[in-house]
Amino acid sequence: MEWPRGVEGLCYGGDYNPEQWPEDVWREDVALMRRAGVNLVSVGVFAWSRLEPEQGRYTFDWLDRVLDLLDAGGVKVALATPTASPPPWFSLAHPDALPVRADGTRLLHGSRDTYCASAPAYREACRRIARELARRYADHPGVALWHVHNEYGTTCHCDHAAGAFRAWLQGRYRTLDALNDAWTTAFWSQHYADWSYVFPPRATQYLHNPGQVLDFKRFWSDELLAAYTEQRDILRAATPDVPITTNFVFGGWVPVDHARWSREVDVVAIDHYPSDAGPGAEEETAFGADLARSWAGGRPWLLMESAPNLIYAGGRMHAKEPGRMARHSLSHVARGSRGAMFFQWRAPRGGAERFHSALVPHAGPDSRVYREAVELGAALGGLREVDAGAVEASVAVAWHAPSWWALSGPGLPWDGIDYLAEVRAAHRALWRAGITADFVSLAQGGPLPYQLLVLPAHYLMSDAEAAAVRTYVDGGGRLVATYLSGVADEYGRVRLGGYPGALRDVLGVRVEEFRPTEAGWSEDVHLAGAAFVRPGVTRHRFGAGTAWYVSTRLDDAAYGELLAEAAGIPVREGAAELELVRRTGRHASWLFAFNHGSTARAVETEGTDLMTGKPAAEVPAGGWVVVRETY
Ligand code: GLA
Repeated sequence: MEWPRGVEGLCYGGDYNPEQWPEDVWREDVALMRRAGVNLVSVGVFAWSRLEPEQGRYTFDWLDRVLDLLDAGGVKVALATPTASPPPWFSLAHPDALPVRADGTRLLHGSRDTYCASAPAYREACRRIARELARRYADHPGVALWHVHNEYGTTCHCDHAAGAFRAWLQGRYRTLDALNDAWTTAFWSQHYADWSYVFPPRATQYLHNPGQVLDFKRFWSDELLAAYTEQRDILRAATPDVPITTNFVFGGWVPVDHARWSREVDVVAIDHYPSDAGPGAEEETAFGADLARSWAGGRPWLLMESAPNLIYAGGRMHAKEPGRMARHSLSHVARGSRGAMFFQWRAPRGGAERFHSALVPHAGPDSRVYREAVELGAALGGLREVDAGAVEASVAVAWHAPSWWALSGPGLPWDGIDYLAEVRAAHRALWRAGITADFVSLAQGGPLPYQLLVLPAHYLMSDAEAAAVRTYVDGGGRLVATYLSGVADEYGRVRLGGYPGALRDVLGVRVEEFRPTEAGWSEDVHLAGAAFVRPGVTRHRFGAGTAWYVSTRLDDAAYGELLAEAAGIPVREGAAELELVRRTGRHASWLFAFNHGSTARAVETEGTDLMTGKPAAEVPAGGWVVVRETY
């Protein structure tokens, strides 16, 4: 399906909240959007109380005028269903639909996301407003995309959630015996003799059952997906030609398996906010973008939200240096995003996020941020041809949300275990070595056409996933697996006979004991076919392939060298200062070069600078170039 419908070239814009402003500001907004080259805005994300101020009383007239005004100005709309922020009347009428924390505290209205997605009244209200919006705007030419909800991830422990959890468990396990076995309920007298005895992992005396905690996250991923798909199906029936998406958010609080969800959206869309204001922001940007591309199966995806000029880190806002907004946005484009969208268009006067950054800041258009926004719009306009190129990646890193959840659970050998940090470390080491990586899911099956597969702390591993690894290495693949991989089965039960359980034969090692230390991780590794390479690293020939095992935490440089050596790709010196990403099409390729350093760098290829139309020569300090290479 063409997406976003009717948008020419790369998408550029962001969240637009006209409900916060008088109409004369709308006209200025459209004029400023046109000047900046904005062609797509997300409208209505948090507008429920302005669209339905009382149950069943709809006030769509203002939205009609906004959509017409934007359409006349050439700006298309990602029209949101406003279900992430129920209006006051809803919470008053349905107190049972307010969310309950693990400790039993019921949260009240007053912020956003005050709902339980298992509450029937909430789901019903969501379907109603989605149906009304679909009916009203089905034929509006300005609607380019449906933006369902906002950042699914909110969970609840109430009785509605308990009932839905039980039903989900019955679907997964069929029998109580299977559930008891999977959760090892013989431990601490937790055997369940009736389904009604099972509850969400509510606040309790000491450690929770890890199987219960893991399945509660899996349940929420599926429950939230059901909430999404029922809205999607309503919109699809009314507007079969309009693509549908929801913006993915990523974080420890989000029990969403995005790799699975990606099959249910027409467009993989992510929100991305680096949490490090230093050089880590560039690597984080690459990380988020590479994940999104992988969830999209290599096809174009969309950066739906990012912050124009600020990074929030360490309890304060850091202004992005001049040019950094463009480098971050274009790094997403280099890695497959069909454009760059922001949160948000205009900074609000009030409200909880009044100091969040915006393309039109409080200072107004006479500002550095808006001037950079105009420059970025011009740049995106000149780069539209790159969308035809597929991102070149030679290494795959496994991403596995359930392993993240399991390694955030109770009773692990070390409280310093951090799955996300392990995956980030692998990706960062590759990024610093100048190697572009895809992420893959072992469950997806099929060939892995990469020079190297990395498994960072892939803790949960089903027999089928282990078989996929075995087949890959046996057939000539190169593998690097790090500690904690393959240790448990898909239910989180430890595989017996020595770690790393499911992968012992492939890796040719047998670990008798974990030995976490003050400084990090170490293990008692016995060679069982593998050869010692250096402390913490072994190598094993398995079939036609080679498998390395890393039983400790390596620093970035050592990790990068190991991964590059295993992949057979030389480390590119200075890759963190001069980031290079190539997209390849049928008749041309495009090299994106980002200079994150403080001195100009020569362009390392021959071709045409897409912005100047002249032979590419240099990347200025803090700048970027995109070079069309023809062949
Ligand atoms: C998220 C939300 C936005 C806004 C931004 C602020 O991504 O979707 O509504 O809250 O964060 O960073």
